[in-house]
Amino acid sequence: MKKFVFCLATFGLVLACAVLIQRPTANAGYENVVLATTVAVADDQPEVVEDSMHEFMEYVFQPTYKRLKVTMAAAPADNAGWKAMKSDALILAESCNLLFARTPDEDAAAWNKHAAASRVNGAELYKAAKAKDFAKSTAAYKSMLDNCNACHRQFEDGKHILQP
Ligand code: HEC
Repeated sequence: MKKFVFCLATFGLVLACAVLIQRPTANAGYENVVLATTVAVADDQPEVVEDSMHEFMEYVFQPTYKRLKVTMAAAPADNAGWKAMKSDALILAESCNLLFARTPDEDAAAWNKHAAASRVNGAELYKAAKAKDFAKSTAAYKSMLDNCNACHRQFEDGKHILQP
């Protein structure tokens, strides 16, 4: 009987230790979240959310460009088509401003120049779409892509050359 009680106590102790050891691992993800929210951040300042350029282009620029490409294939037949063009033009133009928070140390001036040129042409596309002028929209769209591509040529060794 004594032996049985001793065994039970030992088993209980081992179990308690195992639970204690396991806990931080099981909660690791959650603890990180808590940590992240308790780190002092300036909540009245703009801040980069995704600092990987790859993810930024893939999830902000790429889907917008892909949608816009379909929209630009023919003059919109209705208001919904023009709205789609305006929306994606504005998303791209404004997103070009976000490139200034991602300027690399090397060739910073050239990077900013490409970003500004893409934004200017994106803004032209937005204006032309607002005016429902498809000829002007198409011209601005092509100029915008030329400038997107100019940055890709210089900073991506010519990868990601986008076709209108
Ligand atoms: C100032 C530089 C710059 C400008 C301007 C720029 N890009 Fe990019 N873009 C990049 C870089 C750098 C990458 C490569 C990111 C990586 O994979 O590391 C990239 C990659 C991409 C990709 C490929 C994403 C993927 O996951 O394969 C697409 C699509 C793209 N850009 C769209 C655009 C569009 C559309 C514009 C213009 C409205 C634009 N970019 C303007 C720098 C720029």
